[in-house]
Amino acid sequence: MISPELTRFIAGLPKAELHVHHIGAASPHIVAELAARYEGTTAVPADPAQVEAFYDFRDFSHFLQIYPQIVDLVRTPEDLWTLIHGVGGDMAAQQVRYAELTVTPQPHLARGFAPQEFCEVIEDARRRVEADFGTILRWCFDIPGIPGPPAEQTLSIALGHRPDGLVSLGLGGAEAGVSRSQFAPYFAAARAAGLHSVPHAGEVTDAEYVWQAVRDLGAERVAHGIRGVEDPALLEHLAEHGITLEVCPTSNVCTRAVPSLAEHPLPALVAAGVPITVNTDDPPMFGTDLNREYAVAAELLSLDEKGVADLARAAVEASFLGAEGKAALLAEIDAYAGQNSSAPT
Ligand code: ADE
Ligand code: ZN
Repeated sequence: MISPELTRFIAGLPKAELHVHHIGAASPHIVAELAARYEGTTAVPADPAQVEAFYDFRDFSHFLQIYPQIVDLVRTPEDLWTLIHGVGGDMAAQQVRYAELTVTPQPHLARGFAPQEFCEVIEDARRRVEADFGTILRWCFDIPGIPGPPAEQTLSIALGHRPDGLVSLGLGGAEAGVSRSQFAPYFAAARAAGLHSVPHAGEVTDAEYVWQAVRDLGAERVAHGIRGVEDPALLEHLAEHGITLEVCPTSNVCTRAVPSLAEHPLPALVAAGVPITVNTDDPPMFGTDLNREYAVAAELLSLDEKGVADLARAAVEASFLGAEGKAALLAEIDAYAGQNSSAPT
């Protein structure tokens, strides 16, 4: 357990989050509200406490079965706007100043959203989040792990509609048996158009998948990548090329990607010199939030206030925020760490 002082320091620390999904970040309150709206046509409970209980995942494939049921609650532009605006408010309450929110447009398009409408709604919500809460949002459009039409539709909405907040292309969904390499043409097109590459790999699959993400998709950061720990040559490559892993410790325990927090490979990754950031993935689904993930990292890595502030700085550095925005956020972190340092002078 970390000290109450460090817990307080983390709670007030200005932070950036680089790996969090819009559906997975919806609060149980908003999910329950949507479930009530669509009662009779959904198995999702209409009570926030029961929503939390609903998120008791047996493993990663069970998680992937439950997830679409929450996607299915987003049926109108208002549902989508309310969800994203709520996520922004929850982030602001955690002192998250900047977040790259992973959005998977394809299942929404399959449920009837027109691409233009989808982009207009999320962009309006993004601007309102910044105006109402001061939190800057950017988008990672995520291919839902299926080549062919779902991947093509994702690329098409990304490049054809190109919302202002879009910074990267991702790749999520099922991983086992889904080679990263087969998505190379989509990532090549996105990168040629100026988008960054941030695929999931090595969450529940081995280091070979992380190699594929790096070699074939030009990954600049890798979502999870934790199984990369099994391959020293890969760790050396990630360290040498400054390829950051977006580590989500509690997510990995809840999906049984790792057996326990105590056995999480985060310390080994850090010891190997791999750049890492700490993230939530799908916070209410995993009963966590960013402050809690920072506390988990502080415990696993034996961090003090300076170490925790360095985690926040690492997220800013590895983000796709522009130079000016990065400098401003880094200055804010420095000012906070300077003012709140409980270190002896
Ligand atoms: N979509 C939402 N969360 C995910 C995860 N942890 N892995 C892959 N796809 C996801
Ligand atoms: Zn994820």
